[in-house]
Amino acid sequence: MLIGVPAETALGETRVAVTPETAKKLTAQGHTVRVQSGAGVAASVTDAAYQAAGAEITDQAGAFGADIVLKVRSPFDNENALMKPGTVVIGMLNPFDAAGLQRLATAGLTAFALEAAPRTTRAQSMDVLSSQANIAGYKAVMIAADRYQRFFPMLMTAAGTVKAARVVILGVGVAGLQAIATAKRLGAVIEASDVRPSVKEQIESLGGKFIEVSYDTDEEKEAAVGVGGYAKPMPPSWLARQQVEVAKRVALADIVISTALIPGRAAPTLITEDMVKSMKPGSVIVDIAAGKGPDGIGGNCPLSEADKTVVKHGVTIVGETNLAALVAADASSLYARNVLDFLKLIVTKEGTLKIDLEDDIVAACRMAQDGQVTKK
Ligand code: NAI
Repeated sequence: MLIGVPAETALGETRVAVTPETAKKLTAQGHTVRVQSGAGVAASVTDAAYQAAGAEITDQAGAFGADIVLKVRSPFDNENALMKPGTVVIGMLNPFDAAGLQRLATAGLTAFALEAAPRTTRAQSMDVLSSQANIAGYKAVMIAADRYQRFFPMLMTAAGTVKAARVVILGVGVAGLQAIATAKRLGAVIEASDVRPSVKEQIESLGGKFIEVSYDTDEEKEAAVGVGGYAKPMPPSWLARQQVEVAKRVALADIVISTALIPGRAAPTLITEDMVKSMKPGSVIVDIAAGKGPDGIGGNCPLSEADKTVVKHGVTIVGETNLAALVAADASSLYARNVLDFLKLIVTKEGTLKIDLEDDIVAACRMAQDGQVTKK
């Protein structure tokens, strides 16, 4: 089949959906891969590297004029218009963007959003949320360490002793776990909070301390189980108790990294303005949920601003919304492998398209087909 790889045009997007490694595999499978000139440049991949992997270099129209178009982010309207009806487009198409999905459907595209894959063992190798959140968790700690004016590790020097940084992680999914692991490697003392008590062991195995909040009612216990591995909104009674415990830790923290999300809903407010005021000057908050707070304002902290770093009450608040794109080369490598594995589900060994809706991953990821939004 003819596979097109356009350059990403979303602001700040540095990733690319196919790397020379995956282009080589696709060409070995008998596909023709056409990459838009410069598509890999921001991820340190040259046109020559793609050509060496057997891909052809083309222009934007050439990359969109394919049977299957592999993207990182959802195409814009003008890009939808470059694809002929029936084109398969695969990417992180944002399953919660109803208007965006409708535009894909109206353009007659067969669209697969990889974020919608179920969190099952079979789907793990194509789990883009995990591959990218893992990178975001790492980069959040790197940025925090860079902005922080002190050391992370405890140091005993001839000039005196330096205390280890205290790091609080809020939300311990994939990003939070990687943030704990990365901060631990740098020598920080770590405490972490999540609504799901099942993460306690994982936090402890990485050398962090779980911030305990009791589950007092059946409603609280039931909500804490979550759904499909994801968090559910917690009852206000539990959130109030969590806030008391978190506030105590945040006041003592040097670094707070917040990653708490509930799919399809606004990110919960976990670091209030009063909590920011209680922090020491020079402390750093990296809010991975920035831009996802109520009405798209704030994140886990209402003071964070999407894609900006601001200083409020003496605390540096980093609101970078696309941390994975700041690790462009590895983020692309992992994402491209996710895409390659998903393709195996919809392209037969003989190289023809076969959309099998009996396959739970294919069915969950399919967002549009034959002019209709087909999101489950
Ligand atoms: P996410 O990005 O949706 O949310 C991040 C974290 O925030 C979650 O741990 C969530 O429980 C937490 N959170 C939500 N509200 C909160 C609040 N008020 N206070 C504190 N924390 C709050 O989660 P992510 O990283 O996508 O992971 C979701 C689940 O999927 C996890 O259980 C993860 O272990 C699981 N998973 C399973 C896989 C598999 O079995 N194949 C692969 C990857 C992830």
